[in-house]
Parts: sequence; C-alpha cells; structure tokens
Amino acid sequence: MTLEEKIGQLCLLNGAGGHIPDHLRQEIAAGRVGAVLNEVDLGTVNELQRIAVEESPSGIPLLIGRDVIHGFHTVFPLPLGQAASWNPELIERCARIAAAEAAAAGVNWTFAPMVDIGRDPRWGRIAETLGEDPFLASALAVAMVRGFQGEDPSQPGRIAACAKHFAGYGASESGRDYNTTDIPEIELRNVHLPPFRAAVEAGVVSLMTSFSDLNGVPATANDFLLERVLREEWGFDGFVVSDWESVPQLAVHGLTADDRESALAAASAGLDMEMASTTFREHLAGLVEEGKISTGRIDAMAAHVLRAKLRLGLFEDPYSGTASWRPPADLDPAGAAREAALGSLVLLANRDRALPLAKPFLGSLAVIGPMADEPVEQLGTWIFDGDPARSVTPLRALREYLGPDVEVRYERALDTTRSRSDEGFPQAVEAARSSDVALLFLGEESILSGEAHSRADVRLPGIQERLISELSATGTPLILVVLAGRPLALESVVDEVAAILYAWHPGSMGGPAIVDVLFGEASPSGRLPVTFPRVTGQIPIYYAHKNTGKPPTPETVVHIDDIPRDAEQLSAGGSSFHLDAGYTPLWPFGHGLSYTEVSYSNLRTSRESVPPGVSLTVEVEVANVGDREGDEVVQLYVRDPVASVTRPVRELKGFRRVRLAPGESRTVSFELHPDDLAFHGRDMRPRTEPGRFHVWVGGSSAAQLRTEFEIGHPSED
Ligand code: GLC
Repeated sequence: MTLEEKIGQLCLLNGAGGHIPDHLRQEIAAGRVGAVLNEVDLGTVNELQRIAVEESPSGIPLLIGRDVIHGFHTVFPLPLGQAASWNPELIERCARIAAAEAAAAGVNWTFAPMVDIGRDPRWGRIAETLGEDPFLASALAVAMVRGFQGEDPSQPGRIAACAKHFAGYGASESGRDYNTTDIPEIELRNVHLPPFRAAVEAGVVSLMTSFSDLNGVPATANDFLLERVLREEWGFDGFVVSDWESVPQLAVHGLTADDRESALAAASAGLDMEMASTTFREHLAGLVEEGKISTGRIDAMAAHVLRAKLRLGLFEDPYSGTASWRPPADLDPAGAAREAALGSLVLLANRDRALPLAKPFLGSLAVIGPMADEPVEQLGTWIFDGDPARSVTPLRALREYLGPDVEVRYERALDTTRSRSDEGFPQAVEAARSSDVALLFLGEESILSGEAHSRADVRLPGIQERLISELSATGTPLILVVLAGRPLALESVVDEVAAILYAWHPGSMGGPAIVDVLFGEASPSGRLPVTFPRVTGQIPIYYAHKNTGKPPTPETVVHIDDIPRDAEQLSAGGSSFHLDAGYTPLWPFGHGLSYTEVSYSNLRTSRESVPPGVSLTVEVEVANVGDREGDEVVQLYVRDPVASVTRPVRELKGFRRVRLAPGESRTVSFELHPDDLAFHGRDMRPRTEPGRFHVWVGGSSAAQLRTEFEIGHPSED
C-alpha cells in the first residue's frame, strides 16, 4: 500500500443517502476512503463496496457505519430505559436484533454502545447512557457489545460495535452538552473508565473519542487516554475513531492553531480514524514528509483499521445483505421490543395500591396528555431508522385492550409537552371529572433530550405541572405515566397523583407494555439506573457519593421554612445539605416498586474474615410475602469505610433478577472476590486494601439489611 492508501484507510466520510456523488466515487476509487457512514440503502452500500473492491488500487472493502443506538427499524427503549431492566440477557438480545436489522441494510459498524457514566439529568445525552453506576454500566455495556458482535463479528447479522465517547463526556459541566470536563484521575479511573475497559475486555472492535475537553486536553488528542490507558494499560488492539469533526474542533478548543496542527495532535496522540472532516486526508502525508509523523505511526493506524476489517470478514465477503441470510425466526423483534419496554418500566409511586387497575375494567377512563398517542416521540432520541409504523402507542394499546365497551375519553390538553397554552385544559378537566380514573401521559418529546439538548431545569416542561394540579382538583384518581429522556424533578407533583409509572422513551412497543402494567397483566420490575433529584439544584446527586467530613442526618437537617426570624448565624445545620431541599433524592438508584411485597432476611457471609485474594460468599433469603408473582432485582452494595483514599458510602457489586411466586422464598448468593473491591488509589494503581467492609443487600441502594466482613492483612496466613 502507498502512503496515500494507508491514509485513505483513516478517513470516514459521510454518505449521501441513497446515491453516490461523483466526488465520493472518485475518492473511493482512488483508495482515499476507508469507511462511509449514514448510508443504509443496500444497493448503494454494495455499489460503494464494489467501487472499493474492484476499482481502488488495493481493493480494500469499506466499513459502513451508522448510529444503531437502541434499535434499527424496530426500536427498543432508550439505553437509559434498557438499563432500568437490569437484564443483561434481554439487552444482549435487543442489540442482536438491532444488528441483524442493520446488517440487512448494509451496515457493518454501529456507533454504540454509549457507555459514558450519566449522573446529570440536565445533560441531554443521559438518555443514551446506561446510568450512573460503573458496575451496572459495565455489565450492560458487555451485553450490548456481545449482542452487536456475537462471538465473531464476521458472522451474518453481526456488526462491529464502538464504545463511546472516550472518556468522561458525562461529566460535562452544568450538564451542558460539549462543555468542559475536569475529572481528577482517581475519579476518572474509578468511575468513568470501567465501562470502557469492560467493553474492551469484551472484544469491542472500536472506540470513539469524546468531543469534550478533558482536564485541558480534548479527548480526541488526549494521549493519556488513547495511548497510556487504552493501548499500554488495557492492550486494546482495535481502532479509535473521532467524533463528528472533533479533529478540527481541537483548534476551536484552543489546543491547536489550524487543521494541520489538529491532524498532527490527534494522530500523534493515538487517534486512528477521522469522522466526517478531512484534516487527515489533507495533512498527514505532508506531516510524514516533514518528519512530524513517522511512517511507523501511519502504519500502526492503518493496521488498527485493517485488523478490524479482517475481524469483520470483509475481505472474504464485503457485500452485505446477501439474499441467503435472513434474521433467525427466534429473534422476534416485536416480542423483544415489548419485553424490553416492559422490563424498562419503573413504578416509582403507588399510593394505596392505585395500580394495577381493576381487571376487567368496567368503569370509565380518561386518557390525557400530549404523549399518549405519539408513535415517533415514544421512540426517543437517536432513531435514524426507526419505523413509526411499528409503534403501538399507549392510546392505541388501551383501546385494543379495553375493547369497545369501555368508555375511553382522550383529551390531548396540550399541543406539546412544552406548550404554554392552556386552551385545552377545560376539556381535559371535564374528561377527568366525568371518569373513574384519569391516565396522564406527560413528560418530554424526544427532541428535549439527546445530543445538544440539555435543560437547565429538569421539571416537567411547559405548564404540565399546572395541568396536573387542575386535574387533581377534580378528585378523580390520577395515574401519571411519564415518557421522557431523562430523570425529571417531580417533587412538586408527587402528592397530586395516585401513582407514577416511568416509561422513559419505551420504543416501538411502549404502548402494550404500559397497558400490561397498568392493568396487572404484568408486574413492573424496572429499577432506577439513575438517581432522581427532588429539584434541579440538587444535581449532581447520586448514591455512590462520598461521606464528607460532616454527613447529614435527619437530625442535622434544617428546612428553610423552619428557620426562625431571629435565627443566629450558626443555628442552622452544620452538615452537608440544602436548606431548601435537604440531602436525599426523590427516588434512589435501584428503586422500583412491584405489585407484590418482598422481604429480605438472614444476610450472611461464608466467612467473617478472608485472607487477601480469597473469595467469600454473601447469601440472603428473599421471600415474596405478597399475593402476586413478581420479579425482584436483588442488589448487593459494599462499602470500604477506611481506605488510603476516601471511598463512596456504597457501591454496587452484584445484582440478580429473581422471579418469585407468592409465598416463595429463595436463597440468593453472590461470590465476592477481593478484586471486586479494588479501587485506584493515590498512585493510580488498582488495589484492594485490607480491613473491614460493610455489605448491604436489598431492593435498592437504600437497602438497610447489613453485615460486615474483613479482608486480612498480607502478613496474616
Ligand atoms: C455525533 C455523536 C456521536 C455519533 C456521531 C455520528 O455527533 O456525538 O455519538 O455517533 O456523531 O453520528
């Protein structure tokens, strides 16, 4: 290969959607393109490949990339919603189906999973994350990589995955997308990097760099990330692609002066492929001739890309969507979409068992809100190829479920969730007043989350809160179903509704899944993958926080309304809380109600103390003490109360989904190896330190059932 051809492999250009512009045709034929994104017309894809294989000097096939984030034509819940299922097997199956549908359109590379840690609901891209916790996000990232790639990504129906956005993007200041991230290395290693490492260890073919400035060096040119961590420490042998034009943006950040310097900075730091922009194509050859970049570096970059193409089997079979292969019958896209939507639903509140509704439902029903019948909006953000015709909305599912004999009065009440006109309120209020129950479908349209769509106030947008108040005044029980791309601050409405079911953006089959839960055909089993704040001002708020030197307690908290007029300066507080919000979230990580009751007892460890390097077993009895079958997500949390750096008050270290029949009890056990308790300390090296550890097991991060164990000192035999 010539230098120009090697550089060609490092260039990812945007497709034209269904046709091939002359310029693109010429570039591919000249061997100056290694990959194309956003082309999903099968015939066009195969023509692109034909040009590359038959006309370019070395006949190297193309990568064909697309954002297949949570489904292709069949859309699954948002990744944040899928994370609420705490179900790796289901998530893997969804990714497998997405890969099969995408591969049939010619796609051989997806820009997913997005494994950034999301702890800021103001950030629009929290919708795409797998939540706030490194342990859960790591487990689910592996499931998605396996679903997309299978054991061998060259197999029909499999595509290369891309863990993104490397790294620390979720820490964008104030939740404002693309904003600065300042993350201490200990925090980066203990919180933000683990899901990427898990994806690398699961064999992910590629990573994508983040737009963001990480500690003064934008990720796209950050050699600490791209060389030191990714190659030297983790031994990654795939390739790294930039985000859209993030190479020339290095000059906008102020790291470089122009495109030539940006190409030099990114390539020297370890970036392999440039997305959409053309600084590599325009400047790398000159930089080599000037001796700024070695031919060895270019060879390494090209080798990373070619190795991926070998793994994908492109040299054997570059053409996609061959008629001989069809998705296996057992994939059942619609069934998986319904199961995933069901698993994603989180019952946050259910006063006086307002849910499930009576079955058969013989009363009258009001359905109110702008999210009840929106086949596109319920799909959520990043659904380029989602097929709205496959959507079943809540309103349609309700009518199909209840049949013609039940009166369903539907009032939209608002044009959109952000509308400020209340002209639709009177009909909605009348519908609620004249019905036995009112189902409210409120929240956010998909445009209010996702890339570049951050919000500074995460309450229900527009005048939805006022709508709830006016409906509440009718006295009719209100069931609030929220469709949104982020946790919303719902404290001001909690007392006005009888129940709250959180549906995220549930995808194609959100309607039937919601109806199944509302009428008790299924028990809700979702658990929060992210903390819900009471008010925006609490953000960031997450369960795995540090204790501080003055941790708050109910006794030390003072509410702003309770401060006397002549209060003295030191009279209020003295611990870490907000006068106007306290210190607890509205709902904690791991929270979710079901239609039954579960009790935990007899938490024990196999040994009081273990020598370093020796595992121990943690066991607990879990009993269904209610009258219905239910799925429980048994969660194990650990604390290292004394260590060489301060550690979180709790960290998730295990979870198990168990289905329990009424009255059934089961022993659930976890294996804990000291390596599971490792963290990066002041020397930035992973270690597990001897000493006592606290263990909790329960149905959320607020679990109270606790025991302890000790890891002995190395000197002890
Ligand atoms: C976007 C996103 C990235 C996506 C890429 C290609 O700007 O940041 O997640 O994969 O461009 O669409």
